[in-house]
Amino acid sequence: MKKIKIGILGFGTVGAGVVEGILKNGELMAQRTGLFPVIGKIADLDIKTDRGVKVDKSLLTTDALSVINDPEIDVIVELIGGVKVAKDFVLRALKNGKPVVTANKALLAEAGRELFEASAKSGAGLYFEASVGGGIPVLRALRDGLVGNKIKSMYGILNGTCNYILTRMEREGLDFDAALADAQKLGYAETPPDLDIDGIDTAHKAVVLASLAYGAPVSMDAFTIEGIRGLSHREIEYAGELGYRIKMLAVIREVNGEIEMRVEPSLVQKKHLLAEVHDAYNAVFVDGDIVGSTLYYGRGAGRLPTASAVIGDIMEAAAGKGGCSDWLLKHKALPVCDPKNILIRCYLRLSLKDQPDVIAQVAHVLGKNKISIASMIQKEQNAGEQVPVVFLTHKALEKDYAAAMEEIERLDVVDGKPVRMAIEDFE
Ligand code: HSE
Repeated sequence: MKKIKIGILGFGTVGAGVVEGILKNGELMAQRTGLFPVIGKIADLDIKTDRGVKVDKSLLTTDALSVINDPEIDVIVELIGGVKVAKDFVLRALKNGKPVVTANKALLAEAGRELFEASAKSGAGLYFEASVGGGIPVLRALRDGLVGNKIKSMYGILNGTCNYILTRMEREGLDFDAALADAQKLGYAETPPDLDIDGIDTAHKAVVLASLAYGAPVSMDAFTIEGIRGLSHREIEYAGELGYRIKMLAVIREVNGEIEMRVEPSLVQKKHLLAEVHDAYNAVFVDGDIVGSTLYYGRGAGRLPTASAVIGDIMEAAAGKGGCSDWLLKHKALPVCDPKNILIRCYLRLSLKDQPDVIAQVAHVLGKNKISIASMIQKEQNAGEQVPVVFLTHKALEKDYAAAMEEIERLDVVDGKPVRMAIEDFE
């Protein structure tokens, strides 16, 4: 039986998971595919730390180039993370004609086009299923199962760390920092976790999804990115009272021939399936014009789930199948719409002085900016004190919200910074 020699760059959490998966199920993979995966070499700067998997020490090296240039190695697996060094290694490997498997969403979001072109030029495939949704094979679903569909919209819970934090905050009343510390202990978060909690990781994954569905090289500057840092319990509580749950959401949809994209914590109706995605799980809700609504759900972070997707790609690369990058280059690209022109509903929480005419002043500013109120709650306090007031609005333009919020913040009767979050109705 033909052996497939794998060269791994980066022996961290996922690298060790890949080795564990191959040691556990290598024979099964061989039965299924006729190709026997073996670990050929592993490069990492730290080859001393015990990774909890059995590896012959002779396979370990600190010299990544010796792996990339080894003629015996059939497939390179890039699990270093970051952009600069990883990009250099991936380009070298592709140039050497070696297929590359990567889980590096930052690399794809920031240098995807260049890598796809290098892959097309050399004929060596680039495979990146593990870059979005951890173990969920959602990129393959978009490329293969849904190839006959025009993708109308995609809604993703794409960051396990954020979803875990929001779940713990809601269920146990844990504060943000304590929930984050647990997510780090469980190995979900990046180091440092800023990329997770500031929405950047979700945005990187959204870029990969958008590229696959719409062929577009979407720039990270082209859409709104907001994270969950500083999210207060009050929002979780009020949203809950109104029948919503807060989820860190990537929204990607086609509207009038343009791609509408945003990444931000959003209110999702509790009855929607995405509101039931808890802990470090990820999910992508895809609406195709032929298939209708579909949902892809699974573990989006962690050692073995991500390794599962990497191994799937290794076997696809070994079988000489094309990967997603070639497919993606041929796709006609749609433009990304200006974020200011996106129509959304919003949740607004203001802290207002409880005295006559205050609601009228706020309502006046909203009305003047073409924002219509859908509902409002105010909890009774002693007259004259500050009182939290929550408004849910009908759809209005993002630019009108921005203008209204600036004006509202300046009103004497408003205390502190108003909170604004999008409401997603999944139309
Ligand atoms: N830090 C990421 C997450 C890991 O929390 O989802 C997978 O990309």
